[in-house]
Amino acid sequence: MMKRLSWAALAALFVGSSACQSGEEIKRQKYITEGILLYQTNCANCHQKDGKGLEALYPPIAGSEYLSKPDSIIHIIRHGQQGPIVVNGKRYNRPMPPQTHLSNLEIAEIVSYINAEWGQKDLFVDVKYVDRVLGKQ
Ligand code: HEC
Repeated sequence: MMKRLSWAALAALFVGSSACQSGEEIKRQKYITEGILLYQTNCANCHQKDGKGLEALYPPIAGSEYLSKPDSIIHIIRHGQQGPIVVNGKRYNRPMPPQTHLSNLEIAEIVSYINAEWGQKDLFVDVKYVDRVLGKQ
């Protein structure tokens, strides 16, 4: 009897947590889907579709150490980036123009996408996070 009860309790726990996860997961998937399109329109010209960058001109996003610093990426997207930087051991020094036409939500979608594709798979940056970093629009 004890055993049956505890299995039931476990099952209830499992169902509870997976239902909760899937709500968050659906939201994450939505961000990623929007992020793909936004990346292709706004970033792929320079960083390329495969995220590998372009020779010495544009640094890679795929595997970039910046992916583990979402706050920096959020700032770079909104404000651009100038001056020499090192990405994956290589030097780059060309200005990235600010992307001021992108909303906080769009930035969140792009950051979620590039992380899911090339960085920390489970890092999910939502619009509230971007609001905290850049200020609410
Ligand atoms: C006009 C070309 C151009 C566009 C468009 C552009 N970038 Fe960049 N990006 C650059 C350059 C050049 C640098 C390096 C800047 C430097 O040398 O200081 C850079 C640097 C970066 C970095 C930091 C270094 C790295 O590779 O991890 C990130 C992250 C980044 N860009 C993301 C983006 C995202 C996301 C978009 C789209 C919203 C975007 N960029 C659009 C040219 C561009």
